[in-house]
Amino acid sequence: MRFAVLGSGFWATEVHAASLAEHPDAELVGIWGRDAGKAQAAAARYDVAGTDDLDALLADVDAVSISVPPAVQPDLAVRAAEAGCHLLLEKPVALSVADADRVVAATAAAGVASVVFLTFRFRTSATTWLEQASRSTLVGGSVTWLASTFAADSPFRGSVWRAEPGAPLWDLGPHALSLLTPVLGPVVAAQGSRAADGTVNVILEHEAGPTSTLTLSATASPLSAGEEFWVHGDAGRLVLLPEEGRTAHLAHAVAVTELQAAALTGGAHPCDAAYGAEQVRVLAAAEAAIAAGARQRV
Ligand SMILES: NC(=O)c1ccc[n+]([C@@H]2O[C@H](COP(=O)([O-])OP(=O)(O)OC[C@H]3O[C@@H](n4cnc5c(N)ncnc54)[C@H](OP(=O)(O)O)[C@@H]3O)[C@@H](O)[C@H]2O)c1
Repeated sequence: MRFAVLGSGFWATEVHAASLAEHPDAELVGIWGRDAGKAQAAAARYDVAGTDDLDALLADVDAVSISVPPAVQPDLAVRAAEAGCHLLLEKPVALSVADADRVVAATAAAGVASVVFLTFRFRTSATTWLEQASRSTLVGGSVTWLASTFAADSPFRGSVWRAEPGAPLWDLGPHALSLLTPVLGPVVAAQGSRAADGTVNVILEHEAGPTSTLTLSATASPLSAGEEFWVHGDAGRLVLLPEEGRTAHLAHAVAVTELQAAALTGGAHPCDAAYGAEQVRVLAAAEAAIAAGARQRV
């Protein structure tokens, strides 16, 4: 399958393009960016074309791997779907329910496959953890993710959208949900608060009764940074062990393979755009709960 990467920033170049350039069954054809010079510089690293001409690149590929800020992604995703391209999307799919629903509708209308690159879901360690968890009777879960997004050595320190007050929830929340909802079930209500330093604490109620908690920060000190995921139930507390090293491009390669399989078979993927939109509904409810200081139904 012929792929274009849409976006020419750090994540687009170091993860999306790097994974596609090495992929045994996919071909990286080109990189699009709003700035032709940046797109060409990114593309030159992989010996492909860089361009700011989106329509021309979409006409030349079967699929796109999108890595731009979440407010920018929906319009690009809709244009790509309308051009008949399968979609490898970034998390969160959008920053509003209406935008997420537009992406879902465009994939349905065009009959294209979609996968949201929820990194943990494409790692072997998480697959094993999810299998173990699905064999237990669970009553709850917890995700704590303390990030130092703006530390001097962070590749995301210049990210404009991550500097918004709601960003820890929208940036880190999709990863948390991607592991909690498959085993605890859909979220039906949320409560939450935001601390003075921007840390977000959220309580989620899952449909069948379990509850889970999220603690998400973008401004943790580098000494306290890290992430912990666990669920608990009759089999004890199942802790997801962190993966060492920079493994995101390996996870992305798995997502590429699974998008291709979904496209070839016409089957839905568990992390498709509709699941991404379900996440957006939960995040929007959590944001509303934080603003209102009261429980919100999803
Ligand atoms: N799955 C994961 O584990 C993971 C990890 C990291 C990031 N991500 C996701 O990847 C996406 C990109 O993240 P990021 O950190 O690279 O974001 P970012 O640093 O905030 O922005 C990256 C790129 O977006 C481009 N951009 C900004 N506004 C644009 C617009 N209006 N039109 C076209 N391009 C625009 C920028 O172009 P210029 O260079 O021209 O300014 C820049 O190259 C986000 O959805 C993020 O959540 C996912």
